[in-house]
Amino acid sequence: MAPRTRRALTALLFAFAFLRIASAQSTLEPSLVKLLHDIKAADRDQLAVSEEDGRFLRVMAASGGAKRALEIGSASGYSAIWIGLGLRQTGGHLTTIEYDPARARAAADNIRRAGLADVITVLPGDAFKEVPRLAGAFDFVFLDAWKRDYKRFFDMVVPRLAPRGLLLAHNVVNKQAEMRSFLDAIQNNPSLFTTIVTPSGEGMSVSYKLQSTLHK
Ligand SMILES: C[S@@+](CC[C@H](N)C(=O)[O-])C[C@H]1O[C@@H](n2cnc3c(N)ncnc32)[C@H](O)[C@@H]1O
Repeated sequence: MAPRTRRALTALLFAFAFLRIASAQSTLEPSLVKLLHDIKAADRDQLAVSEEDGRFLRVMAASGGAKRALEIGSASGYSAIWIGLGLRQTGGHLTTIEYDPARARAAADNIRRAGLADVITVLPGDAFKEVPRLAGAFDFVFLDAWKRDYKRFFDMVVPRLAPRGLLLAHNVVNKQAEMRSFLDAIQNNPSLFTTIVTPSGEGMSVSYKLQSTLHK
């Protein structure tokens, strides 16, 4: 291929990639795009979900009409911000729990900078202690804490999940070996419909709570 043709093709590919990114981000304010980018860049332990998983959480929160959302494992607030953007559409509220004090502070700061302080509350502490202290039912729960604890979180939150509510969990593909009993529970519990999707390679389970177990 002639060098000129190769240069033209390379320029075309860059333009195409730029347009795809621009169109994927077109619904977000540039300052929010930068904030999300900065949170990821500072995330040395790679705790945050991928951008695609974040977009997926936003759509699930908005399309399910979530009003009362819970996240277990905030880290620096990246996924909470995506869920909060979905809740902006529904008038809902997210409580996100993080037991590392420095991360909880970073999450609260990032959420404030995202303009979502009225939509998201960061609750510092251990979710096993904090969730029982929260009143009422949840209609959207996102699990993203340590994977070995997922089954215990399942036992704690499923009874608190409203009928038609959603339970989502992260890393169900790339860390499935660490959460066998959880995967078994979401697939076999008679009150849930479950599917596993891969917006990015890590995998997200989505479980829908039935109104009754009769029609499963
Ligand atoms: C994978 S990171 C969460 C990433 C975050 N969801 C995001 O995408 O931006 C898991 C977090 O869960 C927190 N964590 C683990 N067990 C917890 C518990 N029992 N209660 C509260 N936080 C917990 C850890 O400190 C860590 O910050």
